Amino acid sequence: MASKKTIQYICEECGSIFPHKVSKCPECGVSGLFVVEKTSMPQGVASTSEPMPISEVPTKHSKRLTSGNQEFDRTLGGGMAAGSLILIGGDPGIGKSTLVLQTLSTIAAAGCQTLYVSGEESAAQVKLRAERLGTAGSDMMLFCETSLGKILECAEKIKPQVMVIDSIQTMYSEDLPGTPGSVSQLRECALKLMVYAKNSGTITMLVGHVTKDGQIAGPRILEHMVDTVAYFEGDKKGQYRILRTVKNRFGATDEIGVFEMTSLGLIPVQNPSKVFLQEGELSPGSAVSCTIEGSRAMLFEIQALVGKTSYAMPQRVSAGVEAKKLTIILALLERFAKLQVSNSDVFVSVVGGLKLEDPGIDLPLALAIVGNARNVSLPPHSIVIGELGLSGEIRSVSSLDLRIKEAHRLGFEKIVVPESGKIPTIKGIEIIKFARLEQAVGWLCS
Ligand SMILES: Nc1ncnc2c1ncn2[C@@H]1O[C@H](COP(=O)(O)OP(=O)(O)OP(=O)(O)O)[C@@H](O)[C@H]1O
Ligand SMILES: [Mg+2]
Repeated sequence: MASKKTIQYICEECGSIFPHKVSKCPECGVSGLFVVEKTSMPQGVASTSEPMPISEVPTKHSKRLTSGNQEFDRTLGGGMAAGSLILIGGDPGIGKSTLVLQTLSTIAAAGCQTLYVSGEESAAQVKLRAERLGTAGSDMMLFCETSLGKILECAEKIKPQVMVIDSIQTMYSEDLPGTPGSVSQLRECALKLMVYAKNSGTITMLVGHVTKDGQIAGPRILEHMVDTVAYFEGDKKGQYRILRTVKNRFGATDEIGVFEMTSLGLIPVQNPSKVFLQEGELSPGSAVSCTIEGSRAMLFEIQALVGKTSYAMPQRVSAGVEAKKLTIILALLERFAKLQVSNSDVFVSVVGGLKLEDPGIDLPLALAIVGNARNVSLPPHSIVIGELGLSGEIRSVSSLDLRIKEAHRLGFEKIVVPESGKIPTIKGIEIIKFARLEQAVGWLCS
């Protein structure tokens, strides 16, 4: 492989690379946090020695390997593509090691060679977890090591079909100075693993830690290099975990997998719509809606609490919804529904730890806030779907028919939708259409 001597400046905060010295990083705005790197960079990955017509490129690795866990397969776009580099990120203790250990054990049981490299836990600790998961008898190879040179040497010998590096932040390359986890070490280790994965066809999973602001440490560098990035979401103290694909070269992004954390590990949740809904009647301040996550529709509940403030600045707190969205919805309610919230604290939360960016959440959020402020509940077995425009109009949302079908499947009977949406004809459901926010609020409060 050709190599070239380079000097570059890397921002320690976000990982952006510059060929010249800069005082302030134009990407993240942080000043004076640069490391200078002088290294021989491999040029290109898995290079074919000669250019060739694309029709003649061999595709021997095109078949996907299943992880044995249908929710994990779904997030990866239908299984693991050979030679792919997959980054799995998440808060400490959320279940990263559990998921990769379960996956490797299942694959090993199917007769494939697998290698689990642990840089964080001792062999005995990994064995203890495997015992709890009921997979301690598997043929998975375990190597507790942090030196990348030794790991690659071992991989060359064992030739695993799937390899896990837990975690990339603990690995170091002897060729470079710097402590494990530093930007230059992360880049070097990820680059070497990428070259190894592409050349050998080994599926390589990297476990990555997340920084305080929710990004994988050394985010840009790692995200650029790998094929797939999946993050764990949700509350680690809660029962459910969501794995979301934010980048995928081999499948759709924003696909999510829903798991239940049990003493036997992460179990796929077959019917995610059900787990995010509370049993029983809706209370004032609750609304059920349906969102599209990747390729499937999923029901969720949103709750609001509005109360007189005792602070100089009224509180606006949102969990699972962007803070800016809450501000806009409150402005719309003040203008079009005559709801005065300038002296009230407003708290909103999506039940179950889901994070939503779907515009279809606007109307249910607005009706939950009004419902709590005016102490009125939505009718039983009703769901609300719709985006709000800044002039108070209710706009249609993507895949409205899919959302309505999912609501019907779970026994919902009244569905509030935008007037302009395309509605499938389904027996046994009442469709209530509104064109404007004030009409929907008037209906709720009538
Ligand atoms: N017996 C048990 N029953 C249910 N859940 C358990 C049990 N033991 C551990 N857990 C869950 O597993 C989680 C730990 O998972 P794991 O070690 O895979 O996380 P991790 O993301 O790899 O963490 P780290 O970043 O520290 O390596 C705990 O937070 C807990 O939720
Ligand atoms: Mg771990």
